[in-house]
Amino acid sequence: MVTPPQPSVNPAQLFDLTGRTALITGGSRGLGREMALAFAHQGADIMIASRSIESCEETAAEVRRETGRNCVPYACHIGRWDELEGLADAAWNEFGGVDILVNNAGKSPLYDNITNVNEQMWDSVIGLNLKGPFRLSALLGSRMSERAKETGRAGSIINISSIAAIHPTPDVIPYTAAKAGLNAMTIGFAQTFGPHVRVNCIMPGSFRTDISKAWNWDMVDQMMKRVALKRVGEPHEIVGAALFLASDASTYTTGAVFTVDGGVPT
Ligand SMILES: NC(=O)c1ccc[n+]([C@@H]2O[C@H](COP(=O)([O-])OP(=O)(O)OC[C@H]3O[C@@H](n4cnc5c(N)ncnc54)[C@H](OP(=O)(O)O)[C@@H]3O)[C@@H](O)[C@H]2O)c1
Repeated sequence: MVTPPQPSVNPAQLFDLTGRTALITGGSRGLGREMALAFAHQGADIMIASRSIESCEETAAEVRRETGRNCVPYACHIGRWDELEGLADAAWNEFGGVDILVNNAGKSPLYDNITNVNEQMWDSVIGLNLKGPFRLSALLGSRMSERAKETGRAGSIINISSIAAIHPTPDVIPYTAAKAGLNAMTIGFAQTFGPHVRVNCIMPGSFRTDISKAWNWDMVDQMMKRVALKRVGEPHEIVGAALFLASDASTYTTGAVFTVDGGVPT
């Protein structure tokens, strides 16, 4: 039997991340940037990774300025297997360990015809949304787990999937397949890394980030009529769920896959 964590005296402290460290992929923009700011506001030091070092540097400076916490930029293509060991090492060595990994970097290129999905597009969508999170989780989850056996210090991995995983649409089939795989991987890794490392997944609905610039807003407005809250999400509205999963607020939650989508009907 594993000893359960002691209850927090003050429930507000459940969301405190003081002394914790987080690696957030795709942390330079959109949902990743919001999570970086929120985790740092709660006391964590952060590394953010994306392809553009300039973009990461800009957001890292903003996080440091706004929160007073350390935020370190790192350039990395998350879809490239051979770049991920360097990223995992850099984050671990920078902070002397990583407590929270957020597999957030993702993309969903649109296509006009299914036959125009070529092998290169397929590989890049699967690489970024599924292969990268697998490799990073394997590398950092193992280290978190080993450290926890020695020190008792727990870890948390959060995968950012999409409701497209359970509501596939014809225009993003490779993406829906990758995200469905990410949902499945969440459950598998929760078993792999328990009891010390928790692994959970958020499936966002439609959020107004850079991704949304390519959307047909007439269609989005139509879609939103079916959504309970009748609107798309604003980037900061991902933060509550992410903080719950990152922190001691969720010490008995692992292998969970849940929606933050404004109420998309099943
Ligand atoms: N917004 C939505 O409506 C929505 C809905 C469902 C799910 N999601 C999921 O939520 C996550 C975040 O989406 P978002 O809307 O915040 O996207 P976003 O605003 O487009 O930001 C994407 C982030 O990922 C990074 N990125 C993209 N390709 C990368 C690569 N190959 N290697 C490393 N980093 C890469 C980008 O930085 P660089 O360009 O510098 O690489 C950026 O920091 C994604 O997994 C997405 O699938 C979003």
